[in-house]
Amino acid sequence: MTSLTRTESDRREEMMNEGHLGKASVAEIQGVVRFEEEVFDNLTNRLLRELRGAAQRRTLNVSQLEHALQTATRAMNAGADDRYVVAALLHDIGDSLAPTNHGDIAAAILRPFVDDRTWWVVKHHPVFQAQYYYPLLGQVWAPPAAILEHEFAADTQEFCERYDEPAFSETFTAKSLEYFEPVLRRVLAHPINVPPGM
Ligand SMILES: [Fe+2]
Ligand SMILES: [Fe+2]
Repeated sequence: MTSLTRTESDRREEMMNEGHLGKASVAEIQGVVRFEEEVFDNLTNRLLRELRGAAQRRTLNVSQLEHALQTATRAMNAGADDRYVVAALLHDIGDSLAPTNHGDIAAAILRPFVDDRTWWVVKHHPVFQAQYYYPLLGQVWAPPAAILEHEFAADTQEFCERYDEPAFSETFTAKSLEYFEPVLRRVLAHPINVPPGM
């Protein structure tokens, strides 16, 4: 016990000399932790704001918000659980910041709140969506085998085929963003997959 304490003390002194986080006071570290907790608590509000903003952006013939709502409504109508419905609602949330790899952003945001399968589906859905428009552009859809043969590939295909790809309809009646707000708040209030060390 004594040697453990001495080791910790030595390490702290080393860190202070190196000029990293060890230079910060305990109060400063606690302040950062508190700030991160507030950011986490406000995540739902910021995501709702982003979704409302998506009403002003088009994706094919509908707004990005309408596309998100149709995707989530279709998943809900098919009996998906709350976490999957939220994933469907947010699957394109990274579109305005990283259009070509927006799945990475949505998946990273969702990671604490969904299982590994749903995370993988969201992350890779752009690859599977491409099968529907590559032929129109004269391109061959040929994703790497590592993706096509992945254990969650069929789930991603299902997500695209049943929920994402059909969600550009001008006649489908989707639930409103207000309708999904309670489920979004419920799911984001209960992380299930927080990485070790967080
Ligand atoms: Fe997408
Ligand atoms: Fe989409």
